[in-house]
Amino acid sequence: MISLRRATVDDVDWLVELYTDEDTEPFLGGRGPRDWDAMRAQVERSQEEPDETGRMIIELDGERVGTMGYDRVSEAHAIARIGGLAVDPAFRGRGIADEAARRFQRYLLLERGFHRLELACYGFNERAIRHSERVGFVREGVKRKAYLRHGEWQDAVLFSLLREDLEP
Ligand SMILES: CC(C)(COP(=O)(O)OP(=O)(O)OC[C@H]1O[C@@H](n2cnc3c(N)ncnc32)[C@H](O)[C@@H]1OP(=O)(O)O)[C@@H](O)C(=O)NCCC(=O)NCCS
Repeated sequence: MISLRRATVDDVDWLVELYTDEDTEPFLGGRGPRDWDAMRAQVERSQEEPDETGRMIIELDGERVGTMGYDRVSEAHAIARIGGLAVDPAFRGRGIADEAARRFQRYLLLERGFHRLELACYGFNERAIRHSERVGFVREGVKRKAYLRHGEWQDAVLFSLLREDLEP
């Protein structure tokens, strides 16, 4: 049983450990939070300004197994950018990310009132690209060599999901 909840300050140690894991960190965007202070600031903002930002915890039968987040990028156009998805390496490969992403899409599009969700994966992150396609995100294109990561220019593969793309 997969569920999603908003992170609290009690989750910060766990989030930092997950994000700094060698099987997670290389796949995350270079500018996201990695240390305790930055993660705590993000979690507090998520608690205080849920219309603007969210840091969520994915739970399996009440146990923390992953995280994902969103930021509002346009109020006028009701657009949110999803980011920071990570599943604890011990729990990968059994559909947890897929189930959590589907729940997250419905939460953002039906409960929080967004109309369009956007996300980007590094071109080398084949697993995340496969996951995004599996859960219904529509590939919009590639931002070529847009980000410097691991000492090289990396492509970003862009995806979106509209409210009308949701299955009824
Ligand atoms: C990207 C990430 C969150 C995906 O998590 P995951 O465990 O690989 O994905 P899922 O839990 O949805 O599992 C999917 C895989 O399990 C397999 N699987 C096994 N049982 C399954 C089931 N019951 N349902 C769905 N998939 C299942 C799928 O075939 C799939 O395999 P594939 O990746 O070889 O195609 C995870 O790999 C991760 O944390 N990576 C590091 C951080 C990262 O890349 N974040 C994304 C930034 S854009």
